[in-house]
Amino acid sequence: MSSSDKKPQVRSVSILGTGSAVPDRVLTNHDLEALVDTSDDWIVARTGIRERRIADDKTAASDLATAAARRALESSGITADQLDTIVVCTVTADYQFPSTACLVQAAIGAPRAYCMDLAAACSGFLYGTEVARGLIGAGLANHVLVIGVEMLSKFMNWQDRGVCILFGDAAGAAIIGPHNGRGEILATYLGADGTSAELIELPAGGSRHPITHEAIDQQQHHFHMKGNEVFKLGVRGMEEACRRVLDRAGVTPADVSLLVPHQANTRIIDATAQRLELPPERVYLNIQKYGNTSAASVPLALDEARREGRLHEGDLVLMVAFGAGLTWGASLVRW
Ligand code: ACO
Repeated sequence: MSSSDKKPQVRSVSILGTGSAVPDRVLTNHDLEALVDTSDDWIVARTGIRERRIADDKTAASDLATAAARRALESSGITADQLDTIVVCTVTADYQFPSTACLVQAAIGAPRAYCMDLAAACSGFLYGTEVARGLIGAGLANHVLVIGVEMLSKFMNWQDRGVCILFGDAAGAAIIGPHNGRGEILATYLGADGTSAELIELPAGGSRHPITHEAIDQQQHHFHMKGNEVFKLGVRGMEEACRRVLDRAGVTPADVSLLVPHQANTRIIDATAQRLELPPERVYLNIQKYGNTSAASVPLALDEARREGRLHEGDLVLMVAFGAGLTWGASLVRW
C-alpha cells in the first residue's frame, strides 16, 4: 500500500464553549413605524421579528466580538493564550483592513493566535467552524476561536422598509478544540452559488465600485437585497443542507433533538421545519428579540439555547444557515 492510499488521521473535534453579546439599545417595530411606512402587525406577520438590538455610534464589530469571545473562553475553561487561531466571520468588519480578528486578538490578549476574517454572510459561523474543524482535525491547531459578528445597522438605508426592519447587531462565539467527550461536530455540509451573488449585496466600498459621492447619492454604500427571491432560495437551501448533513452523519430528521436555524424569518424557519417534519418544540427561535443578525445569528441562538438549558448531553443539535454569496450550510453536533 502506497502512502497516498493511507487515509489521513483525523481527530474528532468539539465545541468546547460558547458566548454571545448584543448591544443594549432596543429598536422595536413601533420605533420603526416612525421611520418608514410599516407596522408592527406587518413585521410580526411577515418575519416574526418584534425588536432588534442596534449598536451606538461608538461601538464597532470588534467590540461585540470581543465581549462574545470572552464569554466563550469563560464557558470553555480555555485561556486566551491557549488559542492557536482566531477566525472572525463577518461582512461588517471594523475596517477593510486590518482584519477584525487581529483587533480581537489584541483585545483579549491571545499573542500565539494567527488571525483571519472570513466573509460568508449569514453562513459565516458554519464556514468558520468547518475551517476550525479542518485545522484541529488535521493536527494543525488545538484551540480555535470562531466568532460570528455583524453590525449591519451601520450599512443600512433606514428609508428602505423592505430591508431595515429585518436586521439587528450581535456577536456569537465558540471555542473549538479536540473532542473532549461533549459537543462533537459529527458532520458539516457547506454550499455556495456565486451566480446569484447580486441578490444580496453591498455594491460600493470595494475595488469594483469604490466609494464616490455619486455612489453615495445612489445609496450604493448601503445593503441591498431582493428579499422575495432570497426567501424561496433560502427555504430550499436550508432544507437541502439539513438533509445532506444528516445523510453524512447517517441519521434522519427524526433523530434531531433541536434545530438551531439562522434566524432570518420565522416563515423560512417554519417551512424548513415542516419539510423535515420537526415539531415546533424541537426548533429554537429567538428572532423575535434580535431579528436577523447575519453571521451572529446561529452562534447567538446556540449560546442562548445552551444558557437556557435547551441542550442536553447526547442531544443531536442541527445548525443550518444561508445568506449572501449565496452561501449555505449545516452542521450536526452531538451535545
Ligand atoms: N412594511 C410594510 N410593507 C412592506 C414592508 C414593510 N416593512 N416591506 C415590504 N412591504 C410591502 C412591499 O412593498 C410589497 O408591497 P406591494 O405588494 O404593494 O408591492 C408587499 O409588502 C410584499 O412585499 P414582499 O417583498 O413580497 O414581501 P415578503 O413576504 O417577501 O416579505 C421579506 C419580505 C420579509 C424581506 C422576505 O422576503 C424575506 O424575509 N426574505 C428573506 C430575507 C433573508 O432571509 N435574507 C437572508 C440573507 S441576509 C444576509 O445574508 C446578510
